[in-house]
Amino acid sequence: MTQGTIVDRGLEGVVVGSTELSNVEGPEGRLTYRGFDIHDLATNATFEEVVYLLLFGQLPNRSQLADLNVRLAANRLLPQPLIDAMHAMPKTAWPMDVLRTMVSALAVFDSEMQGGAHASNPRIALHLIAKTPSIVATWNRIRRNLEPIEPRSNLSTAANFLYMISGEVPGPEAERALDTYLVLLADHSYNASTFAARVTASTRADIYAAITSAVATLEGDLHGGAPSKVMSMLLEIGKPERAELYVREALARGERIMGMGHREYKTRDPRATHLEQMAKALGAKTDPKWYEIARALEDAANNVFRETKPDKKIYANVEFYTAPTLYSLGLAGDEFTCMFACGRMAGWSAHILEQLGDNRLIRPQATYSGPPVTPFIPLAERDRVRSNGTSHS
Ligand code: COA
Repeated sequence: MTQGTIVDRGLEGVVVGSTELSNVEGPEGRLTYRGFDIHDLATNATFEEVVYLLLFGQLPNRSQLADLNVRLAANRLLPQPLIDAMHAMPKTAWPMDVLRTMVSALAVFDSEMQGGAHASNPRIALHLIAKTPSIVATWNRIRRNLEPIEPRSNLSTAANFLYMISGEVPGPEAERALDTYLVLLADHSYNASTFAARVTASTRADIYAAITSAVATLEGDLHGGAPSKVMSMLLEIGKPERAELYVREALARGERIMGMGHREYKTRDPRATHLEQMAKALGAKTDPKWYEIARALEDAANNVFRETKPDKKIYANVEFYTAPTLYSLGLAGDEFTCMFACGRMAGWSAHILEQLGDNRLIRPQATYSGPPVTPFIPLAERDRVRSNGTSHS
């Protein structure tokens, strides 16, 4: 492309497509899924209802929901070769590496995908939504030298996951907390991982390929990798009184405060409110320390950002209270991004189906910043020129 064209680094503010699935209104701090406010969904809907809403366009009635629950439960069991492959992995393997690899491997065991068929339909979406938590829970057990636990069909997605990691059916509070977490994380318009999924789907690659792109894109700490780092901060800070000094020292070293700031929201992330309540309630039953440090850290960061970057509007994002919430549910810091993937699988799948419903190859342009057009120099001549000590300009 010609020089002088305006480049939008990071595509900030650039509209690259349209979606009916969710709307992020950054300045107002509002998030809706198909027109339903996230606050209403977080308070009243289950993850399964949100899966139905995103995939099928409306909230389900009782029989539609019951049917969806049966289909999800029937798809939870992992192919044995996948479990065997996880047993063969080093126990030190990073959970996101395992998840990305296993999600990709699911394609091989899908009998309807044989011969490279580009089947991309709600059947596979449900298959992926059901199996992703099973992969995460199975690796959680294997890495701890425990036998994996088979999924149960009479539990919700959230309760079944907690059962698969602990062997015990969770109480209503833990189930509701994880269920709400999954609702909050289910979709977020054209975020980086969803965009990656849509780009891959736009080439007519199959849904497994598109989802694998999404999982890979999620892991970085500017996106879904942040909550693990938030937990590392909470562990390092150790007590609420140390929060402000930590923020000042981290910023002085040029570091970012993880879980703070957002490309779209210029207010506190609307999802943070629910996560904060859950972190507080779960902490009261386990150890209140992690919530208390997080609360002190948010206050300290708000004060310091007001002082040092008053025009940037940096506030807590969804990842901030994800850390104490998931930690209180018994997950390790390096598993948090995998939980994000369990929720976002609903949104990724719906976006892929939406992309394919009205597809056009996504292929942007770039300005060229390399050397000008240059005559080709044959290898022998290059050798001669360089051994004479002159370099080609
Ligand atoms: N800590 C410290 N400074 C931050 C910050 C944070 N968490 N988030 C943004 N900033 C500052 C940047 O240093 C930059 O300041 P400068 O202009 O003085 O250099 C300014 O705010 C804009 O940052 P930029 O990276 O251009 O904004 P963005 O729109 O790309 O930022 C994030 C969005 C999410 C990448 C960014 O806020 C961030 O890195 N947050 C921490 C990681 C995180 O929580 N990720 C999960 C996102 S849901």
